[in-house]
Amino acid sequence: MKEWYDKINEASSVNALEEIRVAIFGKKGVLAAEFAKMKDVPNEQKGQFAKELNKHKSALMNEFTARKIVLQTQELQEAMKAEALDVSMFSTKSSAGALHPVMETMDRIVEYFSSMNFAVKTGQIVEDDFHNFEALNLPKYHPARDMQDTFYFKDEMLLRTHTSPVQIRTMMNTQPPIRMIAPGAVFRRDYDLTHTPMFHQIEGLLVDEEGKVSFANLKFILEDFLKYMFGDVAVRFRPSFFPFTEPSAEVDISCVFCEGKGCRVCSHTGWLEVLGCGIVDPNVFEAVEYKNVSGYAFGLGVERFAMLIHQIGDLRSLFEGDIKLLEQFQ
Ligand code: PHE
Repeated sequence: MKEWYDKINEASSVNALEEIRVAIFGKKGVLAAEFAKMKDVPNEQKGQFAKELNKHKSALMNEFTARKIVLQTQELQEAMKAEALDVSMFSTKSSAGALHPVMETMDRIVEYFSSMNFAVKTGQIVEDDFHNFEALNLPKYHPARDMQDTFYFKDEMLLRTHTSPVQIRTMMNTQPPIRMIAPGAVFRRDYDLTHTPMFHQIEGLLVDEEGKVSFANLKFILEDFLKYMFGDVAVRFRPSFFPFTEPSAEVDISCVFCEGKGCRVCSHTGWLEVLGCGIVDPNVFEAVEYKNVSGYAFGLGVERFAMLIHQIGDLRSLFEGDIKLLEQFQ
């Protein structure tokens, strides 16, 4: 038995000690083997034999426990030494922050329209029914209200579903001519690959004397703008409908992923829809009491632009705050 005391005390790690424990106390260990010899011991000596063995058993267990504490303490100390952190150490490495891709895209869009003399206007996120819908030629129970799933509060208040109410407020506060864009967060009850309940829009409005503003003006500025954002893309206008513009159009660019050849992103059409626009409906001017004017308006989703510029597949990933993803846009 003597050798096993030495083995315990010579064990150099908790793992080695564990192996020795199994060798001594395990089912097939030395103690079990010694106890098995009992059947060959003459009866009158059995008592003494068992007593001896039990003495060893508890002595070995004590030895084992003591050694385990020593080894564990030693290993802990070594680990702490290896992982030691000098909190006073001066690091020369510094990491710079960066703009979120949505904000960066927003800045670029604002930059373009500022250079074209559009003023930047902001409004309020909690709006009322009049400014968000009614004044935009969207009377109550108008089916087109379903185009925008709205978050409502009590008393006709709501989270704005687009930044168009900023245009209404601006027109009610100032006299034409107007040249403005309204960037900001908007809210709709939507959540999937390409929709989040909060996203950002930039809408534009230009108002001048009657007969001065034409669809050709609108077409020119949007084509120029889209080439500024996406480089040398083809641009096409498709007839569409918005309650606040007549005529209305949706604007497509040739797919930036496949260059118009057709791919999964553009649903094999070669085109990507990026904008809504049109000539301001006379009913809107009537609501804000403007007379003898003409104007155009447009609206776009900033996240959609950011996704196309940075080739991001899932819109929701922009809002998860994942540093690994965001670092790619530095
Ligand atoms: N307000 C529209 C929307 O959010 C966008 C738009 C603005 C379309 C101006 C046409 C003209 O869907």
